[in-house]
Amino acid sequence: MKVAVGVTGGISAYKAAELVRELQQKGLEVQVIMTAHAQEFIRPLTFAALTGQKVITQMFSSQQQEANIESAIEHIAVAQSIDLLIVAPATADVLAKMAQGIADDFLTTLYLATKAPVIVAPAMNVNMWEHPATQENIERLRQRGVHVVEPDSGYLACGMTGPGRLASTGAIIERVAEVLGLRQDLKGEVVLVTAGPTREAIDPIRYISNRSSGKMGYALAEAAQRRGARTVLVSGPTALHPPEGTELIPVTTAAEMRAAVLEWFPKATVIIKAAAVADFRPQKTTLQKIRKANKPLSLVLEPTEDILSEIVRQKEDRIVIGFAAETENLVASARAKLKAKHLDLIVANDVSQAESGIDSDFNTVTLLGCNGLEKHLPRLRKIEVANEILNEVVNLRSHGKTGKPRSR
Ligand code: CTP
Repeated sequence: MKVAVGVTGGISAYKAAELVRELQQKGLEVQVIMTAHAQEFIRPLTFAALTGQKVITQMFSSQQQEANIESAIEHIAVAQSIDLLIVAPATADVLAKMAQGIADDFLTTLYLATKAPVIVAPAMNVNMWEHPATQENIERLRQRGVHVVEPDSGYLACGMTGPGRLASTGAIIERVAEVLGLRQDLKGEVVLVTAGPTREAIDPIRYISNRSSGKMGYALAEAAQRRGARTVLVSGPTALHPPEGTELIPVTTAAEMRAAVLEWFPKATVIIKAAAVADFRPQKTTLQKIRKANKPLSLVLEPTEDILSEIVRQKEDRIVIGFAAETENLVASARAKLKAKHLDLIVANDVSQAESGIDSDFNTVTLLGCNGLEKHLPRLRKIEVANEILNEVVNLRSHGKTGKPRSR
């Protein structure tokens, strides 16, 4: 696999040399691109020596003035040949250009021309990082699917303290491995994910449901799949495409979801119940459409089966993770569910927040573990939340809290 590393002009540009080495040690081919300002901080020769490849330092080389068509379209050739673009360190300036689609040098042109995933690792002065302009640009890039490796906090070269230091090489490499699907820490696991809402019919055309989009469950299936697990996705009705490689079991009602989960449960080693299962269904579903009448209509609802409570009875050594959609007393209510349902982990979700949670691409959650874990995560994209949850699965395994099912 081939990776392009864009180095921009910051004090931490020298750290990109270590990053390049680590990428090579992962067996990746590396093409370095430097902006003009980056070359004020570190010489291209360093990268050329490390990679054994010419470092791209400008859009138009002097030879090109002799009508060298190959280098005139080099950005397109590089754009098509790479599996990933990493910009590290990424200055406020390059982030602004990327957010706006300005393509005035090789790196920013490459960003527009490539369809490969993109990772940025910002590094700058704390005030520049916290400036609304930079934060808006970062947000815009995130919305577009760019992966952001947040800067570390600490003592900065400018003498100030705060967030702005380039993330550690380890953190950047971890993200690279994740994006490229190199992290295979769930190999051997069979992850069963439930996602989306359920629909409970009132009559042939009407139903009771909820606002769940399924995005969180689909992100979990995608992340688990990328990390090497066999992934089965039992999904209520959603508008989403199933992630490549996952086995999709489409269902509509809570009863169908229960049947599918019980069928797959014996084979699963990890069960993650992200679905927003209806708690009630109409006691009777009429065969014909209910006609309009000028009087109130009462529906009698009966409870559905609690799938999660049912499966934990046969849990054995499987890891079982639930979600807790709460509108008040987030941690206390979720911890009560964790205990009552005998779960290994619960993902507490404050669904009263407008900008994250149900139907959003983002989520702000707290992870609560049976081992006392209480981890408040910042507002993250759902794929990042998914990876945080899966990190806890790996942790639970490594601490031997739960093993694979004994009955397999
Ligand atoms: N769940 C389930 N079967 C149901 C209802 C919920 O398996 N019939 C699962 C959900 O997938 C979720 C967890 O139970 O992982 C908690 O769901 P939530 O709706 O937050 O809680 P409830 O147990 O339904 O309790 P309440 O609605 O009173 O908050």
